[in-house]
Amino acid sequence: MRTTLSVIKADVGSIGGHIAPSQQLLHRVKEFVANEGRRLLLDSYISSTGDDIAILMTHTRGEGDPDIHEMAWNAFVAGTAVAKEQGLYGAGQDLLKDAFSGNVRGLGPAVAEMEIEERPNEPFLFFAADKTDPGAFNLPLYLAFTDPMHCPGLILSPKISKGFHFVIMDVGHVEGDRVIELNAPENLYDIATLLRDNQRFVVEGIYSRATGDQAVAVSTTRLHNIAGTYTGKDDPVMLVRTQSNFPATGEVLAPFSVGHFVAGCMRGSHNAPLMPVSLNCPTSYFDGPPLISCAAFCVHKGKLTEPADAFAHPFWNHVRDKVARKTLDIREQGFFGAAMLPMSELEYTGVMEKLHALDQQFYLRKEKMALAK
Ligand code: F6R
Ligand code: MG
Ligand code: MG
Repeated sequence: MRTTLSVIKADVGSIGGHIAPSQQLLHRVKEFVANEGRRLLLDSYISSTGDDIAILMTHTRGEGDPDIHEMAWNAFVAGTAVAKEQGLYGAGQDLLKDAFSGNVRGLGPAVAEMEIEERPNEPFLFFAADKTDPGAFNLPLYLAFTDPMHCPGLILSPKISKGFHFVIMDVGHVEGDRVIELNAPENLYDIATLLRDNQRFVVEGIYSRATGDQAVAVSTTRLHNIAGTYTGKDDPVMLVRTQSNFPATGEVLAPFSVGHFVAGCMRGSHNAPLMPVSLNCPTSYFDGPPLISCAAFCVHKGKLTEPADAFAHPFWNHVRDKVARKTLDIREQGFFGAAMLPMSELEYTGVMEKLHALDQQFYLRKEKMALAK
């Protein structure tokens, strides 16, 4: 059976700042999808990560279906009304355009979709990150799909030893989708060269070279490219199929033990390590640390099982302690050097405005001395 997995995610308001959506807001989105989705969907699962709400849907209408996108958009519009009634912070924040126009891509919400030929047993992972951007997935995907140190299946299992096909997007190109296709392992150094720059180049999809089947879909939205100004970090979502002809679930999860530094955290303008957290976890310290949750499912004839909370296991407490230590380490140097993002990535204009004003006060000593004579 051909099943489409679609996840559409937005921040339409939260309590206590940018911490978590209210129960009423979540309830309204769930209710809307339950009613309006009935004629379109096979199944759905609605969850929150930090201040974001994600609507995961299964259906048979393919990727980019206007009715599915419109239903999700309208669910967030209905949620925004509740957020406004409750006086939630940032009500409607990610709905950047006034009206829906055929596809939520480019309107603010993040989207990751995959149309798959369901295997008899079809495990997949749904990742949602808050207070960071889609480049946060570059390193874990590189390690899970190309590196036998994290994915021993690449040498142990003939099913995946042919490697994987990467589609990488240049998210700095705002006029349209600019992508490149590269194969691991042959083009490994080219893939690495691009993915190290996780503000510019982002994995969009990964495919099995043995079967051509899609393994990964990542949302590649950069909000400041749409709005032209700060509107919050992009807070990406990702779908990853696992097992058999793909890396095992544990091989996909393993690289998140690194707790690598990503862009985001306070005011979307810092470097901080990514913390794996339980489902529906709120945000906290320094509007962070950037967080990643993972709901593991099986889907059969479009019906979802209940989610297994992949980062709830006690093992991840140790990782969380490490990430907390790394967070405090980099926070010790505040806004200096590597702690804050480079100029081009700052999500607020204050620094640029100050630099512009100060620029007028600089002078050339030689010229000033000559004038004084
Ligand atoms: C990060 C984020 C927060 C806000 C911060 C200030 O993506 O959303 O860190 O940037 O809480 O928010 P404002 O400027 O709305 O007061
Ligand atoms: Mg927010
Ligand atoms: Mg968010």
